[in-house]
Amino acid sequence: MEYRQIEETAEWLKAHTNYRPQIAIILGSGTGELADAITERECFPYSEIPNYPISTVPGHKGQLIFGKLNGVDVMAMQGRFHYYEGYSMDQVTLPERVMKLLGIKTLLMTNAAGGMNPEFTPGDLMIVTDHINNFPEHPLRGRNDDRFGTRFPDMGEVYTRRLIKIAKQVAEEQHLILKEGIYIGSSGPTFETPAEYRLFHLWGADATGMSSVPEAIVAHHSGLEVFTLSVITNCPDSKVVKEVTHEEVQQVAATIQSRLTALFSGMLPLI
Ligand code: HPA
Repeated sequence: MEYRQIEETAEWLKAHTNYRPQIAIILGSGTGELADAITERECFPYSEIPNYPISTVPGHKGQLIFGKLNGVDVMAMQGRFHYYEGYSMDQVTLPERVMKLLGIKTLLMTNAAGGMNPEFTPGDLMIVTDHINNFPEHPLRGRNDDRFGTRFPDMGEVYTRRLIKIAKQVAEEQHLILKEGIYIGSSGPTFETPAEYRLFHLWGADATGMSSVPEAIVAHHSGLEVFTLSVITNCPDSKVVKEVTHEEVQQVAATIQSRLTALFSGMLPLI
């Protein structure tokens, strides 16, 4: 996407809200409660925002919310753009570029994921400590725009220890158990075959999903600090073949909403 278009989107948002948040949140499947907890809100449906694609997945609402969460100014994306919907990587990661131009410093994300780690059960929350990019296309392929970041970005600490420490501290205060692990992102829209779940686990991944990795890469490229939390919605068992459905994923995601809202709200003042 041309810099001019990204700038156009950022300028439009700046002209339509007086909020100048430094923290952005991307809300994945079944996190409506967190979105609803944002007060003094100004909402922009994606269809109104210049150059923004429209989210097509049931359960993903499709609006940008500016407001306050636990007293802290935030901008929250209720619904993200997935590669499997047919969007280009430029479209999938437009929001992170726009965030950069809006002055966002920190990006918090959630996603739904299948858990391959045998210690995991559905309903677990997993801090993403690192990722494996298994998408067929790299979001930074093409001419590099130095205004965002360097041609060959270091990827040693995408998910900063600082934010992980804050999450653990808040979780401890709230008596909330958080798992930790590596997230592998693939294009979807199919869930994995039993062989793929096994392969991903052998590769060192603890959870698998269809988002977040392109966003994390582009955000990190332009210097944003990233924190990602996966909601483990299903745990494949290689011996018992059990169907995974979008409905099941959404239902499990719904059960953890209050824990997620409490965790993110608790983290914000400490960031
Ligand atoms: N695989 C990929 N994406 C997912 C899964 C899964 O098992 N569960 C929720 N999102």
